[in-house]
Amino acid sequence: MHLVRKRVCSPDQENIKRLYDKYFSKNYDQHMRATNHYVTMQKIMRQLRSYFNGRILDPTCGTGEALKMLLDMFGADARLLIGNDFSDGMLAHARIKLRNSGTLLTTFDAEDVRLASATIGTVFCSYTFHWFTDKERVAQEFRRVLVPEGTLISLEEFPLLINGSKHMPRDVKKMIANTVGKTKLNGLDELIRIFRSTGLVFVDLVIEKIDDNHDMYGLVFKRV
Ligand SMILES: C[S@@+](CC[C@H](N)C(=O)[O-])C[C@H]1O[C@@H](n2cnc3c(N)ncnc32)[C@H](O)[C@@H]1O
Repeated sequence: MHLVRKRVCSPDQENIKRLYDKYFSKNYDQHMRATNHYVTMQKIMRQLRSYFNGRILDPTCGTGEALKMLLDMFGADARLLIGNDFSDGMLAHARIKLRNSGTLLTTFDAEDVRLASATIGTVFCSYTFHWFTDKERVAQEFRRVLVPEGTLISLEEFPLLINGSKHMPRDVKKMIANTVGKTKLNGLDELIRIFRSTGLVFVDLVIEKIDDNHDMYGLVFKRV
């Protein structure tokens, strides 16, 4: 396994990284399973199966669940998978889940992707755009690493519900309010506008209900 490190500079990003390292990583998988998020992700990924090409990068893979779903989905056909996340706490789970799978795990800041241009067939980014501090830059980075005809698959939920349970410590609630309060997306149109502004072409959208309060959106863009 190969690790590439980069210092994360922005205070907001440091805050987000700390939130995942110290708090969310502890029971992220349990939460995502109990709240129907993983099942919904899997439904969307299956519908978008034909858009996955060649080498796949998950730039914010968290605990590696989507990568595991991809391994299950493509079986013997599994493409080379690269998982990345700037939270060591989250990656620790991915390392266990994906051991012996041949998946390459890295830890760079997705706002500065440490990969050569035009080397990735599909960038698959789930459930993270609401955290990026410089969303345009991230979108440009994703486009830069895609090969021509490569695809960007982005999963997000609208409306975003990170309100924190009553069991969440106060300082964590405050950190969430201070960060996602600033970084969250205003809606699907904003996400589409950001990707299109890089020259990526919007090709598909699927929507699945997570629960009665919000839906998950799977968007596909192509580098032409
Ligand atoms: C809500 S989790 C999503 C994890 C996974 N993609 C999923 O769908 O379950 C957001 C993840 O993005 C990571 N993250 C946020 N900003 C990042 C950045 N700038 N660079 C790398 N990872 C980042 C966090 O550490 C966290 O693991």
